[in-house]
Amino acid sequence: MLEKIDRLLKLISELTVSDIKELEIFRIRYMSKKGIISELFEEFKQMPASEKKEVGRKLNILKQSVIEKYNSYKNTLQPLSASAQVNDLSRPSFPSGPGARHPISIVRREIIGIFERIGFSVSEGPEIESDENNFTRLNFAPEHPARDMQDTFYISRISAEDSNPADILLRTHTSSVQVRVMQKQKPPIRTISPGRVFRNEAISARAHCIFHQVEGLYIDENVSFADLKQTLLFFAREMYGEKTEIRLRPSYFPFTEPSGEMDISCTICGGKGCNVCKHTGWLEVLGCGMVHPAVLEACDIDSSKFTGYAFGMGIERPAMLKYQINDLRMYYENDIRFLEQFKSAF
Ligand code: DAH
Repeated sequence: MLEKIDRLLKLISELTVSDIKELEIFRIRYMSKKGIISELFEEFKQMPASEKKEVGRKLNILKQSVIEKYNSYKNTLQPLSASAQVNDLSRPSFPSGPGARHPISIVRREIIGIFERIGFSVSEGPEIESDENNFTRLNFAPEHPARDMQDTFYISRISAEDSNPADILLRTHTSSVQVRVMQKQKPPIRTISPGRVFRNEAISARAHCIFHQVEGLYIDENVSFADLKQTLLFFAREMYGEKTEIRLRPSYFPFTEPSGEMDISCTICGGKGCNVCKHTGWLEVLGCGMVHPAVLEACDIDSSKFTGYAFGMGIERPAMLKYQINDLRMYYENDIRFLEQFKSAF
């Protein structure tokens, strides 16, 4: 018995454990109810009293060294982390196919690309905006009914009845970025601002509370409506094909004067009339106009020296035309069957 204990003592002192699994095997082998130490104590009970003193002493030393060994490893070995478990470099890899861009991203990149080629830079602003940048500096008077054109999600509102420049809201259009750019940069300014906008609308196939716009702004000396028209014609032909015609209709926006809306000849029927253009031959694609002098002044730009044009368009609608998507909700459902269809596009 004494010899056996000595052998075990030597073994324990030399033993090394490399991970938590081995430590568990060690625990079961030596420390469990049916383990080696328990067995030795059972044997010990049967021994003649004369031998018990010496064997008991040694047995306790062995038990102690087993416990110490176990504790020393237990404190240093970490449980296997999830990443350690998958870091098996010999495993075959998962087949991962190519991803696809979202149709909104594809069209946004296309629009940006067209304007970048004619010298526009890209600027972005925050989705959470002040009333000041979204409305006030864009010449929306406090009580102006035009504020009702855009059903605003307010985050904090000082008064339920009257809007206040300090109110915080989700921007209703990317025109707010114009204000930011004009305050930071001095003319000449030639920039486009893509981004997400929010309006409190009931969600349906034709309307959504979240959508995307691209805003354009050009400020310099002697910028005229003819410059605007020519730029928009260039854009329309790059985007919708070289046979595309445009027409400008008078409209109203508080931040532009004069204001217009641009239609393009229907991309489906080429202007003959079809369901998509409601038999008019035209599709409305953007709002535009000459930047109102009051907006320039509100953004510290001298309106007697500088003029400019601005335009704003949605991204969802052109993407619907391009890919024949007939329900706006598809954009936000993350349905893999929908998204996978855009794999071959950029
Ligand atoms: N901000 C307008 C909207 O969301 C779109 C727009 C119209 C932007 C005319 C412009 C503009 O810059 O000149 O309905």
